Amino acid sequence: MSGVDILQRIWTALHAATKQGTGFTLGFLGTVSNGGGPRIRAVILRRFDRSPDRIFFATHASAQKAIEIRDQPQVALTLQDNDSALQLRIEGTASVVEDPAQRRNAWESLAPHSQQLYASPEVPGRPLTQNVHSLVDDSEMRSAFERFAWIRIDLAWLDWLDLSTEPQQRWQFRLNEGSWRGQRVVP
Ligand SMILES: Cc1cc2nc3c(=O)[nH]c(=O)nc-3n(C[C@H](O)[C@H](O)[C@H](O)COP(=O)(O)O)c2cc1C
Repeated sequence: MSGVDILQRIWTALHAATKQGTGFTLGFLGTVSNGGGPRIRAVILRRFDRSPDRIFFATHASAQKAIEIRDQPQVALTLQDNDSALQLRIEGTASVVEDPAQRRNAWESLAPHSQQLYASPEVPGRPLTQNVHSLVDDSEMRSAFERFAWIRIDLAWLDWLDLSTEPQQRWQFRLNEGSWRGQRVVP
């Protein structure tokens, strides 16, 4: 397979990850904490756009990761598909989408149970001071959209590892003035 074929496989896999559940749907996002150390957590890939190549995910506007991205936008995202023995490592620049129409569009693409995650005015990660209640009142639901953040990652570097072939294949790609340059590397 050539670099062009591998890159096409990556785009197809990212697209599929956001349209149906695949091994790549759940990613592990790395950010830099304000203390300078790494922080990693799971996120669901919600959308993938090509040219420019971007991944989007949803989070709480007050989540630590959203604060970290505002301070230090360099992020890493690792995806792994156990069934296909594939790993895709991504590096890029993250930003919190501010455009109202894009935010609204993303919000409306979420299922009602996902929107409900933003209903509570409690801040994620803060000590729990009262019992979590599962009943959401109308006023909380109306303000839920304000607590929703839509995060964009502009892809800049990719590392594709395929352990299903013999020999194993590893490719790296870097975005250079709008075009991806790839090379096969030692696994
Ligand atoms: C299967 C799974 C999917 C998750 N998806 C998301 C997600 O899409 N967005 C999100 O903000 N947190 C998601 N989380 C929770 C995060 O991993 C994390 O615990 C939480 O967002 C707090 O992270 P932070 O303090 O670094 O912001 C998910 C957790 C699991 C286990």
